[in-house]
Amino acid sequence: MLNVTVIGGSGYTGGEVLRILSSHPGARVVHVVSRTHAGKPVGEVFPNLRQCCEAVFCEPDPSRYLPDTDVVFCCAPHGTAMGIAREIVGKAKLIDLGPDFRFRDPAVFEEWYGKPHEAPELAQEAVYGLVELHASEIKSAGIVGNPGCYPTCSVLALAPLLAYGLIDPESVVIDAKSGVSGAGRSPGLAYHFPEVNDSIRPYGIPGHRHTPEIEQELSRLAGRQVKCSFSPHLVPMTRGILVTCYARLLGWPEVGSDRAGAAGSRDIRDTGDIIALYREYYEFRPFVRVLGPGELPHTKAVYGSNFCDVTARVDPRTGRVIAMAAIDNLVKGAAGQAVQNMNVMFGLDERTGLYAPGLYP
Ligand SMILES: NC(=O)c1ccc[n+]([C@@H]2O[C@H](COP(=O)([O-])OP(=O)(O)OC[C@H]3O[C@@H](n4cnc5c(N)ncnc54)[C@H](OP(=O)(O)O)[C@@H]3O)[C@@H](O)[C@H]2O)c1
Repeated sequence: MLNVTVIGGSGYTGGEVLRILSSHPGARVVHVVSRTHAGKPVGEVFPNLRQCCEAVFCEPDPSRYLPDTDVVFCCAPHGTAMGIAREIVGKAKLIDLGPDFRFRDPAVFEEWYGKPHEAPELAQEAVYGLVELHASEIKSAGIVGNPGCYPTCSVLALAPLLAYGLIDPESVVIDAKSGVSGAGRSPGLAYHFPEVNDSIRPYGIPGHRHTPEIEQELSRLAGRQVKCSFSPHLVPMTRGILVTCYARLLGWPEVGSDRAGAAGSRDIRDTGDIIALYREYYEFRPFVRVLGPGELPHTKAVYGSNFCDVTARVDPRTGRVIAMAAIDNLVKGAAGQAVQNMNVMFGLDERTGLYAPGLYP
């Protein structure tokens, strides 16, 4: 049994880690840290966890929680994990759900989050926790930077196209929509019911903080520096992310040419070819469900689950491919992915405690 400590345990992603671990056969929660709820039973703050999580929130004191902890999940805002990482390393493994350890180059964190990195040497050692792309490095990692919700969905939608060299990396445009829990549990006017209900709103355009994280992973896949356009939107639903990505197929005939289309070294001619290629790429990735030509991803189909539903279409008129994916931002986009990382770091089957359908409808 792995002993788990959750920091920021009173927030939305912390609550999801507690929910998932309440039925995990190989891990148990021993400490749940909260600065504002210390002394209260977890079930008072998360009514869904009554009787399922017996823990009581405790103070943020590492000397109390580290001695009997194997792995720390840090579910707090950016800047928190890098402040405590040096104390944790060597005593327990660290999975940070925030962005502090997502960038191989700490200067990128500093540029986009506007503060100096407090543990740059650890950031360089940390592994980006997208199991579908980095499982072998995650196995031996001491610190995992759990990916952001939008980057998880966007990178999984686009990875096969870049890995097989089918698209012009500079042509990638990502249009994304998220439910309101993506903003966390702290109240704010922009997330107040009358402000979000009956409305869809773009935000952070251009220059949302998830852009460099998406570009880091797309660049690794493409084997060269990639810049992309990323446009997030807030939609009036509790959970879920849907991304629709557009890119130009390499080698496709110019619009107006009467030559039949065929893209890239894999001779992609239509949607059936693209879907076959996605199935090949994700064949051994249990949480990626590649949908066929008659199905499209939607957030309700992944609600509460760790699955990412993904598919793509060739648009022969424009020579573009349209890749789509859906996840639950709090599960595959945060807590579920963090548990998937824990499983891999400790040699468990990555599906342990996670491989279950979500709620429907
Ligand atoms: N929401 C999502 O969909 C999502 C997805 C992927 C990643 N993330 C990332 O996951 C992290 C947590 O997000 P969330 O949505 O769970 O946020 P949240 O609901 O606002 O919860 C964050 C929790 O962290 C604690 N906290 C706040 N400031 C802290 C500090 N300086 N030191 C220690 N603890 C602090 C707070 O608990 P106390 O006041 O009780 O201590 C709070 O309950 C963030 O970095 C976020 O970017 C979120």
